[in-house]
Amino acid sequence: MITWARRDGRARLYQGDSRDLGHVPTGSVGLILTSPPYWVSDSGRRAAERYARRLAVGFGREWRRVLAPDGDLWLVLGDRHDGREWVGFDALITSRLRCSGWRLQSKGIWAETRSRERWDNRINYLLRFRKAGRRVRPTSATLCWMLPLPRTHPESLWDATPDPVLRALILASRKRGPVLDPFCGAGTVGRVALGLGREWIGMERDPRMAKLTARRLGMIRADD
Ligand SMILES: C[S@@+](CC[C@H](N)C(=O)[O-])C[C@H]1O[C@@H](n2cnc3c(N)ncnc32)[C@H](O)[C@@H]1O
Repeated sequence: MITWARRDGRARLYQGDSRDLGHVPTGSVGLILTSPPYWVSDSGRRAAERYARRLAVGFGREWRRVLAPDGDLWLVLGDRHDGREWVGFDALITSRLRCSGWRLQSKGIWAETRSRERWDNRINYLLRFRKAGRRVRPTSATLCWMLPLPRTHPESLWDATPDPVLRALILASRKRGPVLDPFCGAGTVGRVALGLGREWIGMERDPRMAKLTARRLGMIRADD
């Protein structure tokens, strides 16, 4: 597997499919923070339900394995109207993850301002899950932002989550253990996590995006 690492050992990046996180030891990750890709090419309820199942079952199994018992899983999920109705991905994903032993602990919103699209098309849910039986003590933190879409790296194919949102989610989560982004794209989560003094592990399937992340985060090839 193609691997990159920082010389100071604080970050590692694997190029591959994150349905298999075989290089990450069981129970070693403090926090998973990620913005999964949106695979639904057709509209309708069925497609949205398939998407939720794919995410929760196909990827969720490895999230569960690598996360520490009291670790946090944060998903940044866009939602939209499919032409007929509001999809409500947050409920679909929550229900699917619930069946495999996750419990929703916090819910926030990042709404994009200055968008030319319908406002309700530009909403992003911030969903925090823990393994069943591991509750989060409530705090007074407000997880709600109205921010413009940040300017992404010119070579990135994807939109990024704004830094203040990522910072707040990391600071609200388990403090020990590396931060994992299994859909790391251009590595925005990695940049913010390292800036907060956290270790970071990324996984990315697209070689162009993996190379970009490696370059942005100052990593060199470190294949096994
Ligand atoms: C929405 S983007 C993430 C954007 C990221 N937050 C950023 O700041 O650039 C999702 C990423 O997941 C990657 N991806 C899709 N399927 C994957 C898989 N099975 N394993 C690993 N990465 C995958 C895509 O190539 C894409 O770069």
